[in-house]
Formats: sequence, C-alpha cells, structure tokens
Amino acid sequence: MKHILMLLTALLLVGCSKESDVKAEVTQPADMGKTLIVYYSYTGNCREIVNSLAALVKADVAEVQTVAENQDYNANNYKLGNDLLNAINANPESIDSYPAIKPVSRDAADYDNIIFVTPLWHSQMAAPAQTYLFQNRAMLAGKHFALIVSSWSSGISTVVSNARRLVPDVTWAGDALWINHNNHSNRNSLIESWLSTQQFQTSSTTMAQKMYITIDDRTEAVTLADNSATQALVTKLQTAPVTVTLNSSGGFEIWGALGFSLPASDTQIIAQPGDVILYNSSNICLFYGSNQWSYTRLGKIDNLTASELSTFLKAGESNISVTLSLDKPSGINSVRADHSSSTAYTLHGTPAQEGYQGIVIRDGKKVVVQ
Ligand SMILES: Cc1cc2nc3c(=O)[nH]c(=O)nc-3n(C[C@H](O)[C@H](O)[C@H](O)COP(=O)(O)O)c2cc1C
Repeated sequence: MKHILMLLTALLLVGCSKESDVKAEVTQPADMGKTLIVYYSYTGNCREIVNSLAALVKADVAEVQTVAENQDYNANNYKLGNDLLNAINANPESIDSYPAIKPVSRDAADYDNIIFVTPLWHSQMAAPAQTYLFQNRAMLAGKHFALIVSSWSSGISTVVSNARRLVPDVTWAGDALWINHNNHSNRNSLIESWLSTQQFQTSSTTMAQKMYITIDDRTEAVTLADNSATQALVTKLQTAPVTVTLNSSGGFEIWGALGFSLPASDTQIIAQPGDVILYNSSNICLFYGSNQWSYTRLGKIDNLTASELSTFLKAGESNISVTLSLDKPSGINSVRADHSSSTAYTLHGTPAQEGYQGIVIRDGKKVVVQ
C-alpha cells in the first residue's frame, strides 16, 4: 500500500509539475554523430524525460513497447514487475527469460550514440528495457552509450550494473543520470548539465561501413556492424567481390557457406528481417524473417520492408547466386560476364587491356568484365 501511495503521489507530482522552459536551441556539440534515444516508460515519467531530452539533442526517438498490453505492473505491490525481474535474474542469458517486446521503429545499427532512458523497478532496470538491451547487445557493441534512470527514490547503481551486464561492449559516454520524484520537475536543467559531461561519438569518426549485395540485376546496400568479423570481411572484399550460393531455409532466411571463416563473437540474437548474420564462423545468412540463435551480426540491409526482402532474397528458392562487394555497381542495371571480342574501353576512355576486370564501354554500352 505504501508503495502504491508512493507511486500515485509520484504520478500526481509529475502530472502537476510545471515544465521549466525547454530550450529551443539544441545544445549538443556541433559534430555529435547520429544519435538515437531509446526509452521504455510505464507511467509516463521516462516519456517526459525523453521529451525534454529531445529538445536539447538532435536525435531520433524510439520507444520500447511490450507485446503484452494493459499489464498492471503496480498490482499486488508491484508483483508482476517483480516476477518479470525474477525470471530474468534466474536465467539472464536466455531470451525466454525476458518479457517480449514489439519490434522497435529505429535500428540502432544506423546510429553512433544511444541514449537509453529506463525506469527503475525494484532497484533494477525495468524488465522490458532489459529485453531491448539483451536483444540488441551485438548491434550496440562499440556504440557510445548514455543512460538515464528514473525512479521514485531508490538509487540507480544496480540499474547501471544491469546495463553493464546486458551491453558489455558499449562505450560509456559518461556517468548515468538519475532523475527521481524530487527533481523530475527540474529535469531540463539536469539533463542539460548532464549532457555537457557526456563524451558522445562525433560524426567525423563514424562513417558506417557499407557493403553491397547483388542478386540477379538488383543491388542493395548493407550497413555493417563494427566488429572483428566485419573488419575481416571488409579486408577480404577489398581484394575482390565474393560470390556465394545460398539456399532458403526455415521460412526465414537464405544461407550458405562463405568459403572462408571470419572471427565470430556469437551471442544469442533474435535475427530480424534484413539482418546479415554470420553463423558458425563460415556461413552467411540473409534474413527475410526472424529466428533466435547464437549468431554474430554482420549488418543490416538498408530500408527494405519484410515483403521487399522476400522478393529481393528470392525467399523459398535454392541455388541463389549472391555477390558481396564494397563498391556499388553504379549506373548498371544488368550485369553480365562479358567474353565478346569487340574493343572495350575503360571509363577513362582508354582501351581495356587483356585481363582487365571492371566496368568497360563496348558498343556504346556499359558492361562488367569479370
Ligand atoms: C513495478 C515497479 C517497481 C518499482 N520499484 C521502485 C523501487 O524499487 N524504487 C523506486 O524508487 N521506485 C520504484 N518504482 C517507481 C518508478 O521507478 C518511477 O515511478 C519511475 O519514474 C517510473 O517511470 P515511468 O513513468 O517512465 O514508467 C517502481 C515502479 C514500478 C512500476
């Protein structure tokens, strides 16, 4: 009862508190990289924090939402919230321990900095917020990570420990910010001075590495994750494009042998449509559906819906020839191996020498000589 009263009072205070002026100007460093604010909020306090934050930082915002709707986490002295946390703590390395969340509208792979805003439940990170971090562990590796925790009064050290366990490979931007019922109404100035202490990634140092996937006459871009596997893959592709033969499997992927191994750092991942995944060190999987397994994430195909992915990846078919490259074959819709004998010219207008590989002009048409 004491807890329920405490929470009701908190909500009332927050609801009545007058917003101090939100700065119209963004106060972040000019060269701050792409930033995503991810938050979970049950009773709305974290949402208010995010609204204040978004007025101070140029960032996209994504909300974590549970699949189960209309849950009463407050009932029976917060029993449901406590049960969810106990399930996580009993087996923290299994995705089955975490409450299911809906797909999040933004892909963390596209961002340099993640500002994560979570409520505190029973002195720990709220269970649905933990699901997001657990699911996105691999994708968040190497990102600059900043944490804001909202509680009624409890200190946040265990929430920080939870984050360190859930996303061990992030680069912390600085100390976490604690906002509680006493200072929630003063959040604008708290957030502003906290932001000035955070070391965010700058855009100049974080150009995401792209790879291209070509199937038949269509090429799509992939934003690569930053890990040892992708670094080794990029090194390999710098020598020459790689063509692999993939087969549909399980109704969610096309996959097959790369023909070489990459340094894996497998963790339990729920692969999503568009994910490019390394499986067992030497196989590549391109997802048009979803599957949970111990994988290393290589990247994500940019901007295609699940149904567009099914078409592009030839879902359901076998022996699909897939070429991975670092350069996009520009201006060419149809790529074919060319073995004809009329004179070919490089794009610089000089005759292509014997053994030349790349784009040439022959009979007024661009073709690729392989
Ligand atoms: C299940 C549950 C457990 C909570 N446990 C605590 C707690 O142990 N200590 C505390 O100070 N606040 C606790 N709270 C209060 C929240 O941390 C606080 O109200 C927070 O601002 C909620 O953020 P939200 O409105 O974005 O959901 C709890 C809230 C819920 C729903």
